[in-house]
Amino acid sequence: MLQITGLTTRYGSISALRSASLEVRSGEVVGLIGPNGAGKTTLLGSIAGLLSPAEGTVSFEGTDITGAAPEKLLRAGIALVPEHRRIFVDLTCEENLKIGGITVSKSERAVLLEEMADTFPVLRDKWTTPAGFLSGGEAQQLAIARALMSKPRLLMMDEPSLGLAPVLVDVVFDLIATLKEQGRTLLVVEQNATRMLEVSDRAYVLRSGEVAAEGTGAELLERSDLFDTFVGG
Ligand SMILES: Nc1ncnc2c1ncn2[C@@H]1O[C@H](COP(=O)(O)OP(=O)(O)OP(=O)(O)O)[C@@H](O)[C@H]1O
Ligand SMILES: [Mg+2]
Repeated sequence: MLQITGLTTRYGSISALRSASLEVRSGEVVGLIGPNGAGKTTLLGSIAGLLSPAEGTVSFEGTDITGAAPEKLLRAGIALVPEHRRIFVDLTCEENLKIGGITVSKSERAVLLEEMADTFPVLRDKWTTPAGFLSGGEAQQLAIARALMSKPRLLMMDEPSLGLAPVLVDVVFDLIATLKEQGRTLLVVEQNATRMLEVSDRAYVLRSGEVAAEGTGAELLERSDLFDTFVGG
């Protein structure tokens, strides 16, 4: 589904991503783990059209989408839940979700709103509440629901459990498991490496902008050497 080949992305003279190659197959949950500054956010941003790769290609369902604009990628079926959520705090939950569904038809949007209210009962309770009043866990669920409103075929999330209390971290990982059961395709960056590997079909370890290891979630969980280099949670 998603094929990344030799991707290099630079900030000025710093190469934050160095010739990274990875793939996500349809229906897979793929984890992306690695220490701070490894290039995880840079990789997601390079796929989502927020950053322009200097070298390499990103191909989605057989089409070269390297460097395409975020709007085009959203319509192509790629959605990103960014680091720190970036929901609109002055808008209600419902309004945030409607914005997420801007690329789908009005009738489809209505169906999706119902679906989100079912999948995320906490949001149903806060439907007309400005998002700025949500707790961290609720806000994260809203950010994920908003991304799902575009009916993405590939959903990418950047550190969905970041800054959440342990009980809410559980909520996020339960949600990832639910999305997996629904057959969705996910690429998830997580600091919480052990938890992520447990729900991943496959995963990649990024280090200093390079893919340092890859394997099934179970295989990488065995690799204690990998975890010596960073706190794996
Ligand atoms: N806007 C920027 N300008 C310059 N350098 C940047 C910028 N954003 C990131 N970097 C650098 O690129 C490298 C990779 O950063 P990136 O944010 O992709 O890492 P990360 O793996 O997501 O880290 P974290 O776990 O802390 O979120 C780091 O060395 C970082 O300092
Ligand atoms: Mg990051």
